[in-house]
Amino acid sequence: MFQTLAEYSASSWEGSAEYDGLEAVVAGIADGAQHIQAKVRAAVLAHAVGVTGETNVQGEVVQILDTFSSDTLVDTLRKCGRVAAIGSEEIEETVIVGDSPVHQYLVQMDPLDGSSNIDVAVSVGSILGIWKRQADESVTGSTLLKKGNEQVAAVYTVYGSCTMMVVATHGSVQGFTLDPSDGIFRLTNSNIRIPKKNSCYSTNEGNFKGFDSGTQKAIEELRNTYSLRYVGSLVADFHRNLLKGGIFLYPGTKKSPEGKLRLMYEANPLAFIAEQAGGAASSGKERILDIEPLKLHQRTVLIIGNQDVVDRTLAVMNT
Ligand code: AHG
Ligand code: MN
Ligand code: MN
Repeated sequence: MFQTLAEYSASSWEGSAEYDGLEAVVAGIADGAQHIQAKVRAAVLAHAVGVTGETNVQGEVVQILDTFSSDTLVDTLRKCGRVAAIGSEEIEETVIVGDSPVHQYLVQMDPLDGSSNIDVAVSVGSILGIWKRQADESVTGSTLLKKGNEQVAAVYTVYGSCTMMVVATHGSVQGFTLDPSDGIFRLTNSNIRIPKKNSCYSTNEGNFKGFDSGTQKAIEELRNTYSLRYVGSLVADFHRNLLKGGIFLYPGTKKSPEGKLRLMYEANPLAFIAEQAGGAASSGKERILDIEPLKLHQRTVLIIGNQDVVDRTLAVMNT
């Protein structure tokens, strides 16, 4: 019999000062994910694919489901009663929810990752980083600008051949699968550790020309050693690499030296999860979790996966 998410949260965090109220935040994320996955699976039939006609703060076209996912998670996180402020890829400014003593958590999220894949039925997902607010800390836009190494938890979901939700806290990475028969998330992957053996590398080889010579050398070595697996949804590529071993790279190019991915709500949460599962994550210059954030939507190069392969790749990149 599989333990439910509610049973796992209660048995793991109830009564713990460090995680007081975390089960309400994670339950809010699960509730939001439930609604999002249902919308994603019915999107074509409900004419909910395609763009809204707006561009977000990243200058990227906004998909109808990007907005739906962001609105849904803002709503469920607000209702959980424990979140003080929310940062979202789809919202330029910080969403201030509340500053009473019970509003102890800060959440940064990519509400729908891989959204260009929706209308071709390829896996997408949501990525969330969770920080704690200091008791007397005021709640402003900059409250959210905390280093990744201050996260207390991180979550991602994958809306793929099944709906999975991976929840990490310090020393623990747990995978839950949504049971379509009753809408309950059940613990199916306990104590996830990234496998010792690396199985693949993931990068957009179409950008190879734009990489600097060190990165090209590192990619050539990976190309000659591993299979290439690249979905084009970070969260799906990361999930496969976490379970099977692998390295994902989104390097900088001449055109975009900082790469494409966002530090606060793509790199930081996944770097937290990778490290708790025995892996590593770097910007090529420094550990992702040590990066001092300056802006809510700042980008970073991301190299993430098996510790030994990340170390080797950085060594070749920086020769
Ligand atoms: P988002 O849909 O949240 O904007 O993220 C898309 C990202 C990420 O999911 C993926 O790894 C990357 O875009 C793919 O970029 P390329 O198409 O340039 O390879
Ligand atoms: Mn994304
Ligand atoms: Mn997104």
